[in-house]
Amino acid sequence: MNLSERDRQAIWHPYTQMQLAEPPLAIVRGEGVYLFDDTGKKYIDAISSWWVNLHGHAHPYLAQKVSEQLKKLEHVIFAGFTHEPAVALAERLLDILPANQSKIFYSDNGSTAVEVAIKMAIQYWRNKRFAKNKIIAFEHAYHGDTFGAMAVSARSGFTHAFTELLFDVIRIPYPAKGIEQESMDELKSQISNQQTSIAAFIFEPLVLGAGGMLMYDVAILNQLIKYCNDHDIITIADEVMTGFGRTGKHFASDYLERQPDIICLSKGITGGTMPLGVTSCTQDVYAAFLSDDRDKTFYHGHSYTANPVACAAAIASYDLLIKDECQQSISRIATSHAGFIKKNQGNPRLKNLRSVGTILAMDSETSEPTSYFHSLRDRLYHFFLEQGIILRPLGNTIYVMPPYCITDDELCYVYEAIEKYSDSQK
Ligand SMILES: Cc1ncc(COP(=O)(O)O)c(C=O)c1O
Repeated sequence: MNLSERDRQAIWHPYTQMQLAEPPLAIVRGEGVYLFDDTGKKYIDAISSWWVNLHGHAHPYLAQKVSEQLKKLEHVIFAGFTHEPAVALAERLLDILPANQSKIFYSDNGSTAVEVAIKMAIQYWRNKRFAKNKIIAFEHAYHGDTFGAMAVSARSGFTHAFTELLFDVIRIPYPAKGIEQESMDELKSQISNQQTSIAAFIFEPLVLGAGGMLMYDVAILNQLIKYCNDHDIITIADEVMTGFGRTGKHFASDYLERQPDIICLSKGITGGTMPLGVTSCTQDVYAAFLSDDRDKTFYHGHSYTANPVACAAAIASYDLLIKDECQQSISRIATSHAGFIKKNQGNPRLKNLRSVGTILAMDSETSEPTSYFHSLRDRLYHFFLEQGIILRPLGNTIYVMPPYCITDDELCYVYEAIEKYSDSQK
């Protein structure tokens, strides 16, 4: 049996209808921006392997640092114990996070980073003796697949089976161009109706990722945050996707005038090497949990919290991220994306061309409305695979979110493949 056949015997894949799915591609190695399958064919990983990879695959520096840490300390319980990689990483994160962030709470993926944020916000108010437990979130939001994260995410095909079990969320329109005021008005009206019960507002800053790479303006986010600040509502930036340079700055929150109270991080944090989640918060949030009363303790933790190898990977990724070379690549990719948009502005088959930093997105025009379940998805996916490019469209929405080591030539190759697809639809 080859690897794909052995896989079929033993494995159940995520986000995959196993009865309909073709055998998965067997990837045997990675190098830089490329992944190689078991026939030797190479693919440009233009979506950074579910948005996690920053510096390329099998990066020698990351491999070296992970291997050194493995030989020193692979894991230790994080309640009552600490270790150098966890402390050093927290110090580095606090150096580059917005200045109001004061404490780092570790977990092990993006969904848990969000669960922690939601629980922190709700218990913050409980510890202060306020009965506030409602959350405001955007339509089309995606915050993860655990129950709390699903609850604050949009109700969609992903959550149908669980609808009745998900707690109610106050939903406001995401502030797309032209309907910013609608979003603001809805926030105001919801707050005026139930301010005393609203604990927090959670949002993906500047880009709603899995919801379709929907981008919106920083100015309206500033206004929404200010309004929440003025009405004692905790703001939570879910930067699981946007963190670590994706939007052109270290964090999308760096574009904001008012900083969020809580920030969720994961994905790129280890450069795509190891699972790790972080929820950072202000001193004010942290202080609400300090008490002689043990009931005010934050009773949350995971077995692999602050895993030393994951922290070492994250420190190594941070070292690479802050180098001029990496920062220049981020700007270079952003400029390239803008060039692609300019060139294709009048292309009737590529609609809603948009970009922020290293994220480029567009909708392939058809008579069907844009959706994750759009029938074009599989056709697009296979077309790009045949060209040796991994792009995993969200329905008919094509997006490019490459590792920062991608060269101009490789980017051009990806753009040309998109244009070739568009031409084939004439
Ligand atoms: C904004 C955002 N939050 C949370 C998550 C969940 O992260 P994970 O898949 O690591 O649980 C994702 C994943 O795509 C995401 O994009």
